[in-house]
Amino acid sequence: LQHQMETRTNNSLEQVCFNATSLFDISLEMDLEAALKECSTALNLFLNNKFSDALALLKPWKNQSMYHAMGYSSILVMQAGMTFEPKDMDAAMASLGESLQTCQKFRKKTGIVETLTSLWTRQPADNLTEEEMHAELCYAEILLQKAALTFLDETIIGFIKGGMRIRNSYQIFKDCQALVNVTKDIKNQKSTYIHFKGGVNMGIGSFNLMLSLLPSRVIRLMEFLGFSGDQELGLSELREGAAGDSLRSILSTLTLLMFHLYITVILGTGEGNLIEAEALLEPYIQKFPNGALILFYIARIALLKGNFTFAQEKFLACIAAQEEWRQIHHLCYWELMWAYSFEQKWREAYRYADLLCKESKWSQATYTFQKAAILSMLPEEEVAELGENVGKTFRQVEGLRIRIAGKSIPTEKFAANKAKRYSSSTPVQLVVPALEMMYVWNGFTVVGKRPELTKSILTTLEKAEEQLSDDPNPSAYHLDDQCVVQLLKGLCLRQLGHLVQAELCFNHVISSENDIKHDNYLVPFTIYELGLLHKQKGDINTAIKMMENVKMNYKNYNMESRLHFRIHAALNTMGSFSAKLPPSRTPA
Ligand SMILES: *[C@@H]1O[C@H](CO)[C@@H](O)[C@H](O)[C@H]1NC(C)=O
Ligand SMILES: *[C@@H]1O[C@H](CO)[C@@H](O)[C@H](O)[C@H]1NC(C)=O
Ligand SMILES: *[C@@H]1O[C@H](CO)[C@@H](O)[C@H](O)[C@H]1NC(C)=O
Repeated sequence: LQHQMETRTNNSLEQVCFNATSLFDISLEMDLEAALKECSTALNLFLNNKFSDALALLKPWKNQSMYHAMGYSSILVMQAGMTFEPKDMDAAMASLGESLQTCQKFRKKTGIVETLTSLWTRQPADNLTEEEMHAELCYAEILLQKAALTFLDETIIGFIKGGMRIRNSYQIFKDCQALVNVTKDIKNQKSTYIHFKGGVNMGIGSFNLMLSLLPSRVIRLMEFLGFSGDQELGLSELREGAAGDSLRSILSTLTLLMFHLYITVILGTGEGNLIEAEALLEPYIQKFPNGALILFYIARIALLKGNFTFAQEKFLACIAAQEEWRQIHHLCYWELMWAYSFEQKWREAYRYADLLCKESKWSQATYTFQKAAILSMLPEEEVAELGENVGKTFRQVEGLRIRIAGKSIPTEKFAANKAKRYSSSTPVQLVVPALEMMYVWNGFTVVGKRPELTKSILTTLEKAEEQLSDDPNPSAYHLDDQCVVQLLKGLCLRQLGHLVQAELCFNHVISSENDIKHDNYLVPFTIYELGLLHKQKGDINTAIKMMENVKMNYKNYNMESRLHFRIHAALNTMGSFSAKLPPSRTPA
């Protein structure tokens, strides 16, 4: 019955849309204000999990109205990013091209043109009409999305094209920002103006934030090319955008949440601002209590706070909220897998790893490795009971690897390297692969919020340590395995505040440097962790020295760029810039 009712509602909705379209056809034009209003309605539909209704609302006008065009292609781009299906990619790319044309119709012909020559002959910008201003903004946003998709094209040409689009897009955002600065004092702004300003906040903010994550060497180059990568500026622009009451407020909010809840965890020190994240999300929880994206972020915040039970509940609610975009389920499976791994409930964790292997297309190699890693934490009888085979699963990893833009994905490379030992004629088991992967994703900073769980992981590690030292005929991997265990033990001990013991563990790894054969990532990552330990002790100078040492003296190891990101973030929190200046010559 419910199904029938739903079908009927859908039908009548389509009817309404159809009627509305034919009605509007008479008026032939949709002005900016009406377009913004309708786009906002579409966004609300989207946040209420009505993805195809949002598309249907935008579609009829996408050739005439730039906001409809932008909204429509944004949804297609998101869909393509989620499914990774060539047909979705093509549809998104085609739609982006059409949308650029739609915007182009509204752009001032002799105004801001993004060709190189116009850099020298730029017109004063303050003669643009409101509509032309918005056209610039939408154009820049679509260009940026197109660049993002182009990067997935696996050729060097794709890379160059993508880079040029990003540069054009950034240039237009900067021009738009100049417009905001010129026009900000004018009284009685049109109602559409806040939407323009919100768009500029979001564009400039996101650009600065993303670039600020790059290693300083790269930032300097980017700044030379006219970009700016100022993290504080990026955050403040996005905060301003999120606080405003514009169409893009929620997008600024989601960008900030992405930063606090993912980027700082995976590519940083794991100290995202959870209080700000909660405050930002609060108004939308009231507005979209059953919105999949909102539920997802609620759960993620709980997870990072160490409240795993509540997080699991909310991820399940997020899955139950909608069926249309299955890929959101996959994001939840990934998170649930970790939430149960933190509690060492491997049977549950296995369930979600297995679902990912069966359903998601993003990175089969990573999922399969993850599944095998979790299985190897279970007793052998249980693995057999599940109808699985650890060695067989590990051996599948290599064949499942993918390449993006001609490059392999670091996590997949890492996984394939670790899985290699199962392909030999005398396979040697990995010791605590699931805990090692937990470290790769910076999970120890998350589980560290729960001392009792950290202790129980420590117990697991001590058992592994014992097993290794009792091994009657040590394999070629023996020392590497020991070092993995020592690194992870050190992390637990540091989280628990046992700094002296933690330091011993880290030093054990570092002193084994010359004898480590396979896991070349161990020493640089351990020195970094030791640096963080010194920071925790308050010895900032030693901490900075260690991080600089890793940056200067270690090359060509697994997950190198991930570590560089983390070092960059850690140095930022320690004010390394001032520390590097020569000591002042004030008399003692
Ligand atoms: C929009 O334009 C494209 C080609 O430019 C055309 O194929 C498509 O049918 C048009 N869509 C609408 C709704 O007018
Ligand atoms: C821009 O407007 C100013 C007056 O506001 C005018 O003097 C100038 O000629 C205009 N420039 C262009 C390129 O239209
Ligand atoms: C987890 O979060 C929920 C909701 O915020 C709260 O009611 C519960 O007490 C929290 N549990 C723990 C263990 O902190």
